[in-house]
Amino acid sequence: MTSTLTREPQPVGLLADRLNGILAGRGIDPGAVATEPPAEPVTALELADARIPARYRRALADHPQIITWADHIAHAGRPGPSGPGIAEGPSLLIAGPTGTGKTHQAYGAVRALLTRGVRLRWEAVTTADLYARLRPRADHDAERDLQTLARSPLLLLDDLGAAKTSEWTEELTYRLINHRYEHMLPTLITTNLPTAELRTTLGDRVASRLAEMTDRVILKGPDRRRHRSP
Ligand SMILES: Nc1ncnc2c1ncn2[C@@H]1O[C@H](COP(=O)(O)OP(=O)(O)OP(=O)(O)O)[C@@H](O)[C@H]1O
Ligand SMILES: [Mg+2]
Repeated sequence: MTSTLTREPQPVGLLADRLNGILAGRGIDPGAVATEPPAEPVTALELADARIPARYRRALADHPQIITWADHIAHAGRPGPSGPGIAEGPSLLIAGPTGTGKTHQAYGAVRALLTRGVRLRWEAVTTADLYARLRPRADHDAERDLQTLARSPLLLLDDLGAAKTSEWTEELTYRLINHRYEHMLPTLITTNLPTAELRTTLGDRVASRLAEMTDRVILKGPDRRRHRSP
């Protein structure tokens, strides 16, 4: 048996007096209220940064068409108590060879909207990950995942046309793109495919919708991964 258990119960007042005495002996004012340090304000950009892959966390969209798009979406935003919310609007198809900065510009565009004060719910996925995620398996509601991406106010669909295709991926891509097409939801799409190959790789229905719903941004130049500035 421990000494604590054998001790007689003591009135709370006595304990409080003893505690106050100890604190006073150490120069601490027992009446002082402990104060929390003031909470740092967390900006939407800081919150978004946590979701952006480390490589693109500081990405700045410096392409004139992307800056124009971000300005347009920010101005067209629905007014809300904490800033404009994203509304219907145009989408972008950022195309170019590997390493020209497509993904960089796309994340830069998301960050550009946040710095312009747009209240933003957004999702980002590569098409290869999308197909892997939505492959039918037990205990997983793939349909719900697809709906989340299809309905997201802003979607970054990275590397469209880069994954192996099948009838199943074609149908899935069609449903995703068609939903965003019908509801005019801003979508940032990157692709390595030249325009002429979009139809053969993605199917005519997807290519036709992309032609109408997106402005094309063509990136050129060397592979930045191999030609880094000193
Ligand atoms: N404008 C830029 N300023 C600084 N760094 C950049 C810029 N654009 C791209 N980069 C850097 O260049 C590299 C390649 O860019 P990114 O991954 O965006 O290429 P990509 O076109 O998406 O390539 P892929 O087709 O292979 O997916 C990355 O390290 C990226 O951070
Ligand atoms: Mg990329």
